[in-house]
Amino acid sequence: MVLLTRKIEFSASHRYDNPNLSPEENRRVFGKCNNPHGHGHNYTLEVTVEGDPSPITGMVLDLKDLKELLDREIMQRMDHRNLNVEVPELAGKIPTCENIALVIWNLLEPKIPAGKLHRVRLYESADLFADCYRAAASNGHAPSRKAGK
Ligand code: NI
Repeated sequence: MVLLTRKIEFSASHRYDNPNLSPEENRRVFGKCNNPHGHGHNYTLEVTVEGDPSPITGMVLDLKDLKELLDREIMQRMDHRNLNVEVPELAGKIPTCENIALVIWNLLEPKIPAGKLHRVRLYESADLFADCYRAAASNGHAPSRKAGK
């Protein structure tokens, strides 16, 4: 088994605000991230697929297929978007690095063209990232697709 990772970058804006908290509580909990007009990040996404290289191609999966999947599901959905209002999968969620990583896992996991998704790592900045693995994604945050896992 081999782990193969592809990296892409996208830019997006967000704001942390929980409508169930008072304005004062939101400011206390989220600090500058609660500023009313939001702010942007340059996100780096690493998508890792596990599988065995094909004896015919030597590849775990066709990189063109993976690039197209990432373009369609991530770039078109999130690049240069306001994550609070333009990404339906994040509606009602605080668009933290953790929640965005989970949404990305759930978007990609059923559509990986060969092998299977091993890890989604999303960097919000050089010194902050969130990892999502199969166990984490199925732990109450996303439907578990495989019985017994
Ligand atoms: Ni932020």
